[in-house]
Amino acid sequence: MTDPRSSAIQYAHENAAHFMDELKNFGSIASISTDDTKKADIQQAAEWLAQHLNLLGINHVQVFQTPGHPVVFGEWLEAGNTAPTALIYGHYDVQPVDPLNLWTSSPFNPDIRGDYIYGRGIADMKGQVMVALDALEAVVKTSRLPINLKFLFEGEEEIGSPNLAQFLELHQELLKCDFAINPDTGGLSPDFPCITYALRGLAYMEVRVFGPDHDLHSGIFGGAVLNPAQALCELIAGMHDAQGRVTLPGFYDKVTSLSPEERDELARFPIGDEYYLNATGAPALYGEAGFTNIERLGARPTLDVNGFYSGFIGEGQKTVLPAWAMAKISTRLVPGQQPEDVYQQMQSYLEAHAPKEIRWRLIPMHGGPPSISDRNSIYIKSLAKALETVWHKKPVFKREGGSVPVVLDFQKILHIETVNTGFSMADDNMHSPNEKLHIPTWYRGIDAFIHFYFNLAE
Ligand code: BES
Ligand code: MN
Repeated sequence: MTDPRSSAIQYAHENAAHFMDELKNFGSIASISTDDTKKADIQQAAEWLAQHLNLLGINHVQVFQTPGHPVVFGEWLEAGNTAPTALIYGHYDVQPVDPLNLWTSSPFNPDIRGDYIYGRGIADMKGQVMVALDALEAVVKTSRLPINLKFLFEGEEEIGSPNLAQFLELHQELLKCDFAINPDTGGLSPDFPCITYALRGLAYMEVRVFGPDHDLHSGIFGGAVLNPAQALCELIAGMHDAQGRVTLPGFYDKVTSLSPEERDELARFPIGDEYYLNATGAPALYGEAGFTNIERLGARPTLDVNGFYSGFIGEGQKTVLPAWAMAKISTRLVPGQQPEDVYQQMQSYLEAHAPKEIRWRLIPMHGGPPSISDRNSIYIKSLAKALETVWHKKPVFKREGGSVPVVLDFQKILHIETVNTGFSMADDNMHSPNEKLHIPTWYRGIDAFIHFYFNLAE
Protein backbone atom coordinates (compact mmCIF):
# COMPACT_ATOMS: atom_id res chain seq x y z
CA MET A 1 0.00 0.00 0.00
CA THR A 2 2.06 2.80 -1.28
CA ASP A 3 -0.14 5.84 -1.67
CA PRO A 4 1.68 8.97 -2.88
CA ARG A 5 1.70 10.58 0.57
CA SER A 6 3.31 7.63 2.33
CA SER A 7 5.87 7.25 -0.45
CA ALA A 8 6.82 10.91 -0.14
CA ILE A 9 7.06 10.72 3.65
CA GLN A 10 9.18 7.60 3.32
CA TYR A 11 11.47 9.34 0.84
CA ALA A 12 11.83 12.26 3.24
CA HIS A 13 12.81 9.97 6.10
CA GLU A 14 15.28 8.00 3.97
CA ASN A 15 16.82 11.25 2.72
CA ALA A 16 17.12 12.99 6.07
CA ALA A 17 20.93 13.08 5.89
CA HIS A 18 20.93 14.32 2.30
CA PHE A 19 18.47 17.13 3.23
CA MET A 20 20.77 18.11 6.07
CA ASP A 21 23.80 18.24 3.76
CA GLU A 22 21.92 20.55 1.41
CA LEU A 23 20.92 22.83 4.28
CA LYS A 24 24.55 23.02 5.34
CA ASN A 25 25.61 23.93 1.80
CA PHE A 26 23.02 26.67 1.52
CA GLY A 27 23.83 27.88 5.05
CA SER A 28 27.53 28.21 4.25
CA ILE A 29 26.93 31.09 1.79
CA ALA A 30 27.47 34.44 3.55
CA SER A 31 24.52 36.19 1.88
CA ILE A 32 24.36 39.24 4.17
CA SER A 33 22.14 41.73 2.37
CA THR A 34 23.17 44.86 4.24
CA ASP A 35 26.90 44.33 3.59
CA ASP A 36 28.14 45.79 0.30
CA THR A 37 31.23 43.58 0.35
CA LYS A 38 29.00 40.46 0.18
CA LYS A 39 27.51 41.05 -3.29
CA ALA A 40 29.18 37.92 -4.72
CA ASP A 41 27.78 35.79 -1.90
CA ILE A 42 24.31 37.23 -2.49
CA GLN A 43 24.59 36.31 -6.17
CA GLN A 44 25.86 32.86 -5.23
CA ALA A 45 22.91 32.21 -2.89
CA ALA A 46 20.46 33.27 -5.62
CA GLU A 47 22.15 30.95 -8.11
CA TRP A 48 22.26 28.12 -5.59
CA LEU A 49 18.48 28.34 -5.25
CA ALA A 50 17.95 28.61 -9.00
CA GLN A 51 20.04 25.49 -9.55
CA HIS A 52 18.15 23.66 -6.82
CA LEU A 53 14.81 24.53 -8.44
CA ASN A 54 16.15 23.28 -11.76
CA LEU A 55 17.18 19.98 -10.21
CA LEU A 56 13.63 19.57 -8.87
CA GLY A 57 12.24 19.92 -12.39
CA ILE A 58 10.80 23.39 -11.88
CA ASN A 59 10.26 25.29 -15.15
CA HIS A 60 11.24 28.79 -16.28
CA VAL A 61 13.73 29.25 -13.48
CA GLN A 62 15.16 32.74 -13.69
CA VAL A 63 17.41 34.96 -11.62
CA PHE A 64 15.99 38.45 -12.16
CA GLN A 65 18.32 41.35 -11.54
CA THR A 66 16.69 44.28 -9.70
CA PRO A 67 18.07 47.69 -8.68
CA GLY A 68 19.19 45.80 -5.55
CA HIS A 69 19.72 42.09 -4.98
CA PRO A 70 18.34 39.47 -7.41
CA VAL A 71 14.94 37.76 -7.24
CA VAL A 72 14.75 34.04 -8.02
CA PHE A 73 11.63 32.84 -9.82
CA GLY A 74 10.40 29.47 -11.03
CA GLU A 75 7.09 27.69 -11.69
CA TRP A 76 5.53 24.28 -12.13
CA LEU A 77 2.03 24.53 -13.59
CA GLU A 78 1.39 21.03 -14.79
CA ALA A 79 -1.21 20.04 -12.22
CA GLY A 80 -3.91 21.55 -14.42
CA ASN A 81 -6.26 24.42 -13.89
CA THR A 82 -8.57 22.69 -11.46
CA ALA A 83 -5.70 22.49 -8.96
CA PRO A 84 -4.76 25.55 -6.88
CA THR A 85 -1.63 27.58 -7.61
CA ALA A 86 0.47 28.56 -4.62
CA LEU A 87 3.30 31.09 -4.62
CA ILE A 88 6.06 30.00 -2.27
CA TYR A 89 7.82 33.07 -0.90
CA GLY A 90 11.16 33.09 0.84
CA HIS A 91 14.31 35.15 1.33
CA TYR A 92 17.86 33.94 0.88
CA ASP A 93 19.50 36.94 2.55
CA VAL A 94 20.61 36.88 6.16
CA GLN A 95 21.48 39.33 8.93
CA PRO A 96 25.06 40.41 9.75
CA VAL A 97 26.97 38.18 12.19
CA ASP A 98 28.30 40.72 14.66
CA PRO A 99 29.33 40.35 17.45
CA LEU A 100 31.39 37.53 15.94
CA ASN A 101 33.32 36.73 19.12
CA LEU A 102 30.12 35.50 20.81
CA TRP A 103 29.59 32.69 18.28
CA THR A 104 30.57 29.21 19.48
CA SER A 105 31.01 27.96 15.91
CA SER A 106 31.65 29.92 12.74
CA PRO A 107 28.39 31.48 11.45
CA PHE A 108 28.87 30.27 7.87
CA ASN A 109 30.05 26.78 8.71
CA PRO A 110 26.80 25.26 9.96
CA ASP A 111 27.50 23.06 12.96
CA ILE A 112 25.35 20.38 14.57
CA ARG A 113 25.47 20.22 18.37
CA GLY A 114 22.88 18.05 20.11
CA ASP A 115 19.42 18.59 18.65
CA TYR A 116 20.36 21.88 17.00
CA ILE A 117 22.08 23.14 13.89
CA TYR A 118 23.84 26.48 14.36
CA GLY A 119 24.60 29.12 11.74
CA ARG A 120 23.58 32.55 10.48
CA GLY A 121 20.34 32.36 8.54
CA ILE A 122 19.69 28.72 9.51
CA ALA A 123 16.39 29.64 11.19
CA ASP A 124 15.82 32.97 9.40
CA MET A 125 15.20 31.57 6.89
CA LYS A 126 17.34 29.17 4.88
CA GLY A 127 16.12 26.19 6.93
CA GLN A 128 12.56 27.29 6.34
CA VAL A 129 13.08 27.67 2.59
CA MET A 130 14.51 24.16 2.56
CA VAL A 131 11.46 22.77 4.38
CA ALA A 132 9.32 23.82 1.42
CA LEU A 133 11.87 22.59 -1.16
CA ASP A 134 12.70 19.30 0.58
CA ALA A 135 8.99 18.47 0.90
CA LEU A 136 8.68 19.23 -2.80
CA GLU A 137 11.64 16.99 -3.58
CA ALA A 138 10.05 14.13 -1.64
CA VAL A 139 6.86 14.50 -3.68
CA VAL A 140 8.39 14.91 -7.13
CA LYS A 141 10.83 12.02 -6.65
CA THR A 142 8.09 9.59 -5.66
CA SER A 143 4.95 10.68 -7.52
CA ARG A 144 3.52 13.73 -9.23
CA LEU A 145 2.94 17.09 -7.58
CA PRO A 146 -0.85 17.51 -7.27
CA ILE A 147 -0.82 21.35 -7.17
CA ASN A 148 0.73 24.18 -9.19
CA LEU A 149 3.59 26.08 -7.61
CA LYS A 150 5.40 29.33 -8.28
CA PHE A 151 8.49 30.43 -6.42
CA LEU A 152 9.63 33.90 -5.41
CA PHE A 153 12.86 34.16 -3.43
CA GLU A 154 14.21 37.62 -2.63
CA GLY A 155 17.56 38.80 -1.28
CA GLU A 156 16.55 42.02 0.47
CA GLU A 157 14.07 40.99 3.15
CA GLU A 158 16.42 41.76 6.01
CA ILE A 159 16.85 45.33 4.75
CA GLY A 160 13.14 46.02 4.32
CA SER A 161 12.60 44.67 0.74
CA PRO A 162 13.21 48.08 -0.91
CA ASN A 163 12.77 46.74 -4.48
CA LEU A 164 10.23 43.98 -4.06
CA ALA A 165 6.99 45.99 -4.39
CA GLN A 166 8.22 47.28 -7.75
CA PHE A 167 9.10 43.75 -8.83
CA LEU A 168 5.57 42.60 -7.92
CA GLU A 169 4.06 45.51 -9.88
CA LEU A 170 6.18 44.70 -12.93
CA HIS A 171 5.52 40.95 -12.88
CA GLN A 172 1.89 40.70 -11.80
CA GLU A 173 1.00 38.36 -14.63
CA LEU A 174 3.97 36.07 -14.06
CA LEU A 175 3.17 35.85 -10.34
CA LYS A 176 -0.55 35.28 -10.75
CA CYS A 177 -1.69 32.63 -8.25
CA ASP A 178 -4.39 31.77 -5.72
CA PHE A 179 -2.46 32.41 -2.52
CA ALA A 180 1.05 32.64 -1.09
CA ILE A 181 2.89 30.43 1.36
CA ASN A 182 5.42 32.17 3.59
CA PRO A 183 7.39 29.80 5.83
CA ASP A 184 9.30 32.72 7.41
CA THR A 185 7.53 32.68 10.78
CA GLY A 186 7.60 30.08 13.50
CA GLY A 187 6.42 28.91 16.84
CA LEU A 188 7.36 29.03 20.49
CA SER A 189 7.96 25.41 21.35
CA PRO A 190 8.63 22.09 19.58
CA ASP A 191 5.51 20.79 21.33
CA PHE A 192 2.91 22.69 19.37
CA PRO A 193 2.83 23.96 15.77
CA CYS A 194 1.80 27.54 14.98
CA ILE A 195 0.03 29.39 12.22
CA THR A 196 0.66 33.14 12.16
CA TYR A 197 -2.25 35.34 11.12
CA ALA A 198 -0.80 38.80 11.74
CA LEU A 199 2.65 40.33 11.48
CA ARG A 200 3.77 43.67 12.87
CA GLY A 201 5.09 46.39 10.61
CA LEU A 202 8.26 48.37 11.10
CA ALA A 203 9.37 51.99 10.97
CA TYR A 204 13.16 52.26 11.31
CA MET A 205 15.00 55.53 11.77
CA GLU A 206 18.16 57.21 12.91
CA VAL A 207 18.18 60.24 15.21
CA ARG A 208 21.35 62.33 15.20
CA VAL A 209 22.06 65.03 17.75
CA PHE A 210 24.80 67.63 17.28
CA GLY A 211 26.23 69.94 19.95
CA PRO A 212 29.66 71.59 19.76
CA ASP A 213 31.30 71.61 16.31
CA HIS A 214 34.13 69.33 17.47
CA ASP A 215 34.88 66.96 20.35
CA LEU A 216 35.83 68.99 23.45
CA HIS A 217 38.00 68.51 26.51
CA SER A 218 35.37 67.63 29.12
CA GLY A 219 37.31 69.50 31.84
CA ILE A 220 37.81 72.71 29.90
CA PHE A 221 34.26 72.83 28.48
CA GLY A 222 32.14 70.43 30.61
CA GLY A 223 29.70 72.75 32.38
CA ALA A 224 29.52 75.29 29.57
CA VAL A 225 27.71 73.29 26.88
CA LEU A 226 25.03 70.59 26.85
CA ASN A 227 26.47 67.17 26.12
CA PRO A 228 24.71 65.73 22.99
CA ALA A 229 24.81 62.23 24.51
CA GLN A 230 22.89 63.51 27.52
CA ALA A 231 20.42 65.36 25.31
CA LEU A 232 19.79 62.25 23.22
CA CYS A 233 19.39 60.07 26.32
CA GLU A 234 16.80 62.49 27.70
CA LEU A 235 14.94 62.52 24.41
CA ILE A 236 14.94 58.72 24.29
CA ALA A 237 13.91 58.43 27.94
CA GLY A 238 10.91 60.63 27.19
CA MET A 239 9.71 58.31 24.41
CA HIS A 240 8.00 56.02 26.97
CA ASP A 241 5.83 56.98 29.94
CA ALA A 242 5.65 55.23 33.32
CA GLN A 243 3.03 52.80 31.93
CA GLY A 244 5.42 51.67 29.20
CA ARG A 245 3.37 53.49 26.56
CA VAL A 246 5.06 55.24 23.64
CA THR A 247 4.69 59.03 23.87
CA LEU A 248 5.14 60.03 20.21
CA PRO A 249 2.13 62.30 19.53
CA GLY A 250 -0.71 60.35 17.89
CA PHE A 251 1.16 57.02 18.06
CA TYR A 252 -1.90 55.04 19.22
CA ASP A 253 -4.56 57.05 17.38
CA LYS A 254 -5.12 54.58 14.54
CA VAL A 255 -4.22 51.37 16.35
CA THR A 256 -6.96 48.77 15.80
CA SER A 257 -7.85 47.49 19.24
CA LEU A 258 -8.26 43.82 20.06
CA SER A 259 -11.80 42.48 20.27
CA PRO A 260 -12.77 40.73 23.53
CA GLU A 261 -13.06 37.49 21.53
CA GLU A 262 -9.53 37.76 20.20
CA ARG A 263 -8.21 38.61 23.67
CA ASP A 264 -9.91 35.47 25.00
CA GLU A 265 -8.37 33.42 22.24
CA LEU A 266 -4.86 34.81 22.78
CA ALA A 267 -5.24 34.21 26.52
CA ARG A 268 -5.44 30.49 25.78
CA PHE A 269 -1.94 30.54 24.33
CA PRO A 270 0.08 28.00 26.34
CA ILE A 271 2.99 30.34 27.16
CA GLY A 272 3.59 32.41 30.29
CA ASP A 273 6.13 34.83 31.81
CA GLU A 274 8.48 31.96 32.62
CA TYR A 275 9.04 31.36 28.92
CA TYR A 276 10.09 34.94 28.23
CA LEU A 277 12.31 35.10 31.31
CA ASN A 278 14.09 31.96 30.14
CA ALA A 279 14.28 32.89 26.48
CA THR A 280 15.72 36.35 27.16
CA GLY A 281 17.74 35.96 30.34
CA ALA A 282 16.43 39.37 31.46
CA PRO A 283 16.00 39.71 35.25
CA ALA A 284 12.36 40.85 34.86
CA LEU A 285 9.91 41.52 32.06
CA TYR A 286 8.78 44.97 30.89
CA GLY A 287 5.95 46.16 28.68
CA GLU A 288 2.86 48.26 28.19
CA ALA A 289 0.58 48.16 31.24
CA GLY A 290 -2.79 46.47 30.83
CA PHE A 291 -1.73 43.84 28.26
CA THR A 292 -0.37 40.29 28.41
CA ASN A 293 2.98 39.41 26.83
CA ILE A 294 1.30 37.70 23.90
CA GLU A 295 -0.78 40.84 23.29
CA ARG A 296 2.17 43.20 23.74
CA LEU A 297 4.29 41.24 21.26
CA GLY A 298 1.72 40.59 18.59
CA ALA A 299 -1.05 43.14 18.80
CA ARG A 300 0.45 46.27 20.39
CA PRO A 301 3.00 48.64 18.85
CA THR A 302 6.39 49.18 20.49
CA LEU A 303 9.48 51.39 20.23
CA ASP A 304 13.06 50.18 20.71
CA VAL A 305 16.53 51.64 20.60
CA ASN A 306 18.51 49.28 18.34
CA GLY A 307 21.83 51.02 18.67
CA PHE A 308 23.40 53.97 20.37
CA TYR A 309 26.68 55.71 19.68
CA SER A 310 28.46 58.71 21.09
CA GLY A 311 31.93 59.78 22.19
CA PHE A 312 34.72 57.44 23.22
CA ILE A 313 33.94 53.73 23.48
CA GLY A 314 37.47 52.30 23.17
CA GLU A 315 39.60 50.67 25.84
CA GLY A 316 40.56 52.73 28.87
CA GLN A 317 39.50 56.31 29.39
CA LYS A 318 39.39 59.55 27.51
CA THR A 319 37.87 62.71 28.96
CA VAL A 320 35.89 63.94 26.04
CA LEU A 321 32.66 65.86 25.61
CA PRO A 322 31.42 64.46 22.29
CA ALA A 323 30.34 66.67 19.40
CA TRP A 324 27.48 64.37 18.46
CA ALA A 325 25.40 61.35 19.40
CA MET A 326 23.18 59.07 17.41
CA ALA A 327 20.63 56.35 18.01
CA LYS A 328 19.02 53.83 15.71
CA ILE A 329 15.40 53.49 16.71
CA SER A 330 12.70 51.16 15.44
CA THR A 331 9.01 50.95 16.10
CA ARG A 332 6.93 47.81 15.51
CA LEU A 333 3.52 48.63 14.13
CA VAL A 334 0.12 46.94 14.24
CA PRO A 335 -2.85 47.14 11.87
CA GLY A 336 -4.03 50.73 11.46
CA GLN A 337 -0.52 52.22 11.70
CA GLN A 338 1.66 53.32 8.77
CA PRO A 339 5.46 53.78 8.82
CA GLU A 340 5.13 57.25 7.18
CA ASP A 341 2.85 58.45 9.99
CA VAL A 342 5.33 57.27 12.61
CA TYR A 343 8.23 59.18 10.99
CA GLN A 344 6.00 62.27 11.15
CA GLN A 345 5.16 61.59 14.79
CA MET A 346 8.85 61.27 15.64
CA GLN A 347 9.52 64.55 13.83
CA SER A 348 6.80 66.25 15.91
CA TYR A 349 8.12 64.72 19.12
CA LEU A 350 11.64 65.98 18.43
CA GLU A 351 10.37 69.44 17.44
CA ALA A 352 8.47 69.64 20.72
CA HIS A 353 11.15 68.23 23.03
CA ALA A 354 14.63 68.85 21.63
CA PRO A 355 16.44 71.45 23.79
CA LYS A 356 17.71 74.64 22.12
CA GLU A 357 21.34 73.78 22.96
CA ILE A 358 21.52 71.09 20.25
CA ARG A 359 20.71 70.60 16.55
CA TRP A 360 19.14 67.35 15.43
CA ARG A 361 18.26 65.37 12.36
CA LEU A 362 15.80 62.54 11.81
CA ILE A 363 16.64 60.04 9.05
CA PRO A 364 13.79 57.67 8.14
CA MET A 365 14.98 54.28 6.85
CA HIS A 366 13.31 51.27 5.25
CA GLY A 367 10.42 49.73 7.11
CA GLY A 368 7.21 48.07 6.13
CA PRO A 369 3.53 48.01 6.94
CA PRO A 370 1.77 45.56 9.29
CA SER A 371 -0.61 42.90 8.00
CA ILE A 372 -3.42 40.70 9.22
CA SER A 373 -4.77 37.69 7.33
CA ASP A 374 -7.93 35.65 7.03
CA ARG A 375 -7.85 32.77 9.49
CA ASN A 376 -10.53 30.65 7.89
CA SER A 377 -9.43 30.18 4.30
CA ILE A 378 -9.32 26.71 2.74
CA TYR A 379 -5.54 27.17 2.47
CA ILE A 380 -5.19 27.75 6.21
CA LYS A 381 -7.41 24.74 6.83
CA SER A 382 -5.19 22.57 4.60
CA LEU A 383 -2.14 23.64 6.56
CA ALA A 384 -3.84 23.22 9.95
CA LYS A 385 -4.79 19.67 9.01
CA ALA A 386 -1.24 18.91 7.85
CA LEU A 387 0.25 20.20 11.09
CA GLU A 388 -2.26 18.21 13.10
CA THR A 389 -1.42 15.04 11.17
CA VAL A 390 2.26 15.36 12.11
CA TRP A 391 2.02 16.76 15.66
CA HIS A 392 -1.23 14.99 16.62
CA LYS A 393 -2.35 18.36 17.98
CA LYS A 394 -4.29 21.27 16.59
CA PRO A 395 -2.00 24.21 15.70
CA VAL A 396 -2.29 27.44 17.69
CA PHE A 397 -2.99 30.70 15.88
CA LYS A 398 -0.68 33.52 16.80
CA ARG A 399 0.13 37.12 15.97
CA GLU A 400 3.82 37.58 15.23
CA GLY A 401 5.89 40.40 16.66
CA GLY A 402 8.41 40.35 13.80
CA SER A 403 7.81 41.78 10.35
CA VAL A 404 7.54 40.37 6.85
CA PRO A 405 6.38 43.44 4.91
CA VAL A 406 5.78 41.55 1.67
CA VAL A 407 2.61 40.02 3.13
CA LEU A 408 0.80 43.36 2.77
CA ASP A 409 2.32 43.91 -0.69
CA PHE A 410 0.89 40.54 -1.72
CA GLN A 411 -2.54 41.70 -0.55
CA LYS A 412 -2.34 45.10 -2.19
CA ILE A 413 -0.50 44.30 -5.44
CA LEU A 414 -1.25 40.64 -6.18
CA HIS A 415 -4.60 40.57 -4.30
CA ILE A 416 -3.74 37.34 -2.53
CA GLU A 417 -3.74 36.16 1.06
CA THR A 418 -0.66 34.57 2.59
CA VAL A 419 -0.42 31.48 4.75
CA ASN A 420 2.30 32.27 7.30
CA THR A 421 3.93 29.41 9.11
CA GLY A 422 7.32 27.99 9.91
CA PHE A 423 9.36 25.81 12.20
CA SER A 424 11.77 28.22 13.86
CA MET A 425 11.28 29.16 17.49
CA ALA A 426 11.33 32.47 19.32
CA ASP A 427 14.48 31.40 21.20
CA ASP A 428 16.39 30.42 18.03
CA ASN A 429 18.63 33.53 18.32
CA MET A 430 17.54 35.04 15.03
CA HIS A 431 19.57 38.22 14.35
CA SER A 432 21.78 37.26 17.34
CA PRO A 433 24.94 35.19 17.80
CA ASN A 434 24.49 31.38 17.73
CA GLU A 435 21.37 31.37 15.57
CA LYS A 436 20.00 27.83 15.60
CA LEU A 437 17.24 25.54 14.45
CA HIS A 438 15.73 22.55 16.28
CA ILE A 439 16.47 19.61 13.98
CA PRO A 440 13.61 17.25 14.99
CA THR A 441 11.12 20.11 14.48
CA TRP A 442 12.67 20.90 11.10
CA TYR A 443 12.15 17.30 9.95
CA ARG A 444 8.57 17.36 11.21
CA GLY A 445 8.12 20.57 9.22
CA ILE A 446 9.16 18.75 6.04
CA ASP A 447 6.60 16.00 6.72
CA ALA A 448 3.94 18.63 7.41
CA PHE A 449 4.66 20.40 4.11
CA ILE A 450 4.31 17.12 2.24
CA HIS A 451 0.84 16.71 3.76
CA PHE A 452 0.09 20.38 3.08
CA TYR A 453 0.79 19.97 -0.66
CA PHE A 454 -1.44 16.93 -0.85
CA ASN A 455 -4.22 18.49 1.28
CA LEU A 456 -4.30 21.52 -1.02
CA ALA A 457 -5.21 19.28 -3.93
CA GLU A 458 -8.16 17.66 -2.14
N1 BES B 1 11.85 36.05 9.70
C1 BES B 1 11.86 37.38 10.21
C2 BES B 1 10.54 37.83 10.79
C3 BES B 1 10.09 36.96 11.90
C4 BES B 1 10.83 36.90 13.06
C5 BES B 1 9.00 36.18 11.76
C6 BES B 1 10.45 36.05 14.07
C7 BES B 1 8.64 35.33 12.77
C8 BES B 1 9.38 35.24 13.92
C9 BES B 1 12.27 38.32 9.12
O1 BES B 1 13.29 37.85 8.30
C10 BES B 1 12.81 39.57 9.75
O2 BES B 1 13.66 39.52 10.59
N2 BES B 1 12.29 40.66 9.34
C11 BES B 1 12.74 41.91 9.74
C12 BES B 1 12.05 42.83 8.77
C13 BES B 1 12.57 44.16 8.57
C14 BES B 1 14.03 44.28 8.28
C15 BES B 1 11.73 44.91 7.56
C16 BES B 1 12.36 42.21 11.16
O3 BES B 1 11.29 41.76 11.64
O4 BES B 1 13.13 42.87 11.84
MN1 MN C 1 13.26 36.00 7.80
